[in-house]
Amino acid sequence: MDKIRIQGGRPLHGSIRIGGAKNAALPLMCAALLTEEPLVLDRVPRLADIRTLKTLLAQHGVEIAIAEGIEIEGQRLTLSAADISSTTAPYDIVRKMRASVLVLGPLLARFGTADVSLPGGCAIGTRPVNLHIDGLQKLGAEIEIDGGYIRARAPKGLTGAVIRFPFPSVGATENLLMAATLARGETIIENAAREPEIADLAHCLIAMGAEIDGIGTDRLRIQGKEKLHGARHAVIADRIEGGTYALAAAIAGGDIELLDFPAQYLGALSDTLRRAGVEVEPNGGSTHVRRGNSRVIGVDAMTEPYPGFPTDLQAQYMTLMTIAEGAALVTETIFENRFMHVPELARMGANITIHHASALVRGVPALKGAPVMATDLRASVSLVLAGLAAEGETVVSRVYHLDRGYERVEEKLSACGALIERLAE
Ligand code: EPZ
Repeated sequence: MDKIRIQGGRPLHGSIRIGGAKNAALPLMCAALLTEEPLVLDRVPRLADIRTLKTLLAQHGVEIAIAEGIEIEGQRLTLSAADISSTTAPYDIVRKMRASVLVLGPLLARFGTADVSLPGGCAIGTRPVNLHIDGLQKLGAEIEIDGGYIRARAPKGLTGAVIRFPFPSVGATENLLMAATLARGETIIENAAREPEIADLAHCLIAMGAEIDGIGTDRLRIQGKEKLHGARHAVIADRIEGGTYALAAAIAGGDIELLDFPAQYLGALSDTLRRAGVEVEPNGGSTHVRRGNSRVIGVDAMTEPYPGFPTDLQAQYMTLMTIAEGAALVTETIFENRFMHVPELARMGANITIHHASALVRGVPALKGAPVMATDLRASVSLVLAGLAAEGETVVSRVYHLDRGYERVEEKLSACGALIERLAE
């Protein structure tokens, strides 16, 4: 298994091009199942999770053509679901990536049948899919759990309904939104998640012939259609990748230009960074992030559904707070077990006390390099960022987590002056 080695203590200077969003590309690829015509997606990042979903879609019978090096960063995927040979998503693939459950809504809506393995446990929390199942049942599906599979049937098709989520789940909103585009009549999703990736999916579905109102709000209204057609769509920029490199500049010091990444994509992170003493300036379609020689100031943060502070930046932000002047309370409200980076950061000299869903981070003047590892994607990258600021050498193992969501992380950072390399094993 590959490792990443970092010699810390060098500020970052330069520019980093931000790719298409993993968490937008995954549901968009599943949307290809809704039509027999080809869906063309541009700016799809080259990531392990994208490859896993390609494997899943291919075993359903989706034909996928890949073209490299088009106008913008990323690849172009042409997905054609004209001949579907299987409506079963097997455990072997689903267990590798929970987002596989997003094939459930589209398969059921178009073919009236889907058997999707339950994803099982996950390092960051229990992550049930009850909201996906309850919502599809409201649309008239008959669903039972059998042999570890969600077996969903709607032989006469789905019928529009009012669905009110008790919690704005991102994945459940996406699954229901896709299913409702082919349901009979009107569907209303209340307390829908509002993440930009959902708006991106809705825009693509509209390009495919769907009728959707309320995009960007917590109330989506969908008029079902008999059929959708092919379309072409470019994936939005990855706000988590952009936020991670903004935090890298804040942690290591120096200044970075985030290319193809408008400043508003940083969302709640912008304000938090500014309060901590980091400069964040829009520069046309890009964003400039700078921290001079002074230490950042401790600022509290609490993760919340969008537009709140994103859980997918919590670990990276906590890393920044480990070297802040003063203390910060970092609270995680989305997942019940998303502090696995804490013991690893402690091995690097961080001073963190966990109490239930909050971590009290008391800033130290400097971290010290150490061998570390993590059990999920964002925790892994937070350790890479810690290594950038730490004195001496840090080696991060289990790099496959990083490859699920960050493309060429070591190349992007070394182009800005970091001493970072991948050690193949
Ligand atoms: C999406 O996961 C993202 N994944 C996650 O990104 C992200 O952390 C999360 O949204 C929150 O922003 C993708 O987009 C592919 P949820 P998702 O359904 O859809 C509970 C990353 O690092 N819940 O909004 O699975 C659940 O257990 C990843 O890129 C239920 O109880 O998130 C969790 O506590 C990790 N029942 C909370 O809701 C359900 O049926 C949020 O989950 C569904 C969810």
